[in-house]
Amino acid sequence: MSDYVHGYSGHEQTRLVDQATTLTELLHHDTRYPPGSVVLEAGCGVGAQTITLAAHSPGATIASIDISAASLALARARVRGADGVVFGRADLYALPFRANAFDHVFVCFVLEHLPRVREALAALLHVLKPGGTLTVIEGDHGSTYFHPDSAHARRAIQCLIDLQARAGGDSLIGRSLYPRLAGAGLDDVEVTPRVVYADASRPHLVEGFTRRTFTAMVEGVRERALAAGMIDEATWRRGIRDLYRTAEADGTFLYTFFKGVGRKPLAG
Ligand SMILES: C[S@@+](CC[C@H](N)C(=O)[O-])C[C@H]1O[C@@H](n2cnc3c(N)ncnc32)[C@H](O)[C@@H]1O
Repeated sequence: MSDYVHGYSGHEQTRLVDQATTLTELLHHDTRYPPGSVVLEAGCGVGAQTITLAAHSPGATIASIDISAASLALARARVRGADGVVFGRADLYALPFRANAFDHVFVCFVLEHLPRVREALAALLHVLKPGGTLTVIEGDHGSTYFHPDSAHARRAIQCLIDLQARAGGDSLIGRSLYPRLAGAGLDDVEVTPRVVYADASRPHLVEGFTRRTFTAMVEGVRERALAAGMIDEATWRRGIRDLYRTAEADGTFLYTFFKGVGRKPLAG
């Protein structure tokens, strides 16, 4: 994961938690697993979603894995005391679990970083029981629009999209979730767009999403975008300034996440 576009800095860990906290209701109001079920969370990062999974599904066991030992250490500290959560280090392309081991599988903001999404889905489905669900939540950076509009801000966002693509990822993956999940062989696939709309009447979204999630994420690739010659310093600075401008009293900001759920076919 040396090319992982967001890196593993302290700022990024904080951003992931801000993101999860702000978006809990929008993304997770319908994420519930029955007591007694065993759920794999692949790519748990610092545990930002794990805490919600555990809180929404009392009595379920959540097995949360990530490839980053440093993130797992933070996740363990964050989730300490929550019932039913076990952490382990693993690569989701080579999961150390038997076939059909899990009742349900959950991934959030992970596929968009992976170079081999089809292979990753196959690996996740291998450990999912027939009849069990796979839930995938991803963003789509092309879904961003805002007021006041700014070509400079759009240029800065494009740097993130291009850097993620260079690292083998796809930050526009949200819009292709349905064909990807159906193409992986899942039944009953349903994808729902989850729109974040922030204006001054929703100050928690302006702060938690426009400033601390989205703009912070774009700001996080500054060095790499400049080093790659994708943008000059003045355009970058103006782009970031204009993104923050959308968080002022007369600004607005929209972004769409996509949540897909499908069922592994029963054998036979
Ligand atoms: C953007 S973070 C999302 C973390 C968490 N799901 C969340 O929503 O806050 C992506 C995570 O996927 C993990 N990851 C990437 N490739 C992986 C792989 N092959 N196996 C396991 N985890 C992986 C990264 O280490 C990182 O923690």
